[in-house]
Amino acid sequence: MDFYIDTANLDDIKKYNDWGVVDGVTTNPSLIAKEGVSLEKRIKEIIKVVDGPISTEVIATDSEQMIQEARKYATWHDNIVVKIPMTIDGMKALKVLAKEGIKVNVTLVFSPGQALIAAKNGAAYVSPFVGRLDDISEDGMALIHEVTTIYQHYNFDTKVIVASVRHPRHVIDSALMGADIATIPAAILEKLFKHPLTDKGVKSFLADWEKVKDKQ
Ligand code: G3P
Repeated sequence: MDFYIDTANLDDIKKYNDWGVVDGVTTNPSLIAKEGVSLEKRIKEIIKVVDGPISTEVIATDSEQMIQEARKYATWHDNIVVKIPMTIDGMKALKVLAKEGIKVNVTLVFSPGQALIAAKNGAAYVSPFVGRLDDISEDGMALIHEVTTIYQHYNFDTKVIVASVRHPRHVIDSALMGADIATIPAAILEKLFKHPLTDKGVKSFLADWEKVKDKQ
C-alpha cells in the first residue's frame, strides 16, 4: 500500500519524505490556496523533492478547458497526475486525456457508481472522499469496500486513493480492504507512527541501560 501526503506545504513534504513514508503527493486548489503560492511554482518544487506521482488539480469546469489545462500540467514532468472532478465535463475530458496517455486522478468521488464510470473512462486513479461522507453521517469506509470490490471483479487498472482521511483508523481499514493508496494529511501521518507503549518501552530500556552502562 502506498502512502501519499495530502498537502502543498513544502516543509511538510520534505520532512515526511525524509521519514521514508512519502510515495506521492496530492494537492487541490484549497491546499494550494492555504499556502498562498503559485500553483506552477509549488508543483515544480514538489517534483524536485518527491520521486512519485504528484496530483495537480484543474481549475477549469468545461471539458475543453480541462483538457488544455491537463496537457499543460502533463508537460511539467512524467510524474504529474492530473486531478479532474467527477463531473460530466470531467468524464468527457478524461476520455480524451486517457487516450493521450495522460494520467488522471478522478476526484470528489462519493458513490460506487461514480467510481465505476471513472474506471470505465480510463482513470489511472480514483479518489473517494471518506471523511466528507462521515461528516454527513454516511459511511466513508463502506464506499471503499464497494469500490475495491467492484474493481476486483472487473480487473480495472484504476488505483484507489483513499482521500479525505481524518484519522489513522481510516488508513488501517483502507489497508484491510486492499485499497492501493491512502493520501494522508501530515497530522494523521504523525499519529500513525505513535504508540504510547513504544515511547514507554524506549524510556524503560534506556533507564535500565543507565544502571549497567559503566560495566560495559
Ligand atoms: O485532497 C483531497 C482530500 O483529501 C481533501 O480532504 O480533508 O478537505 O475533506 P478534506
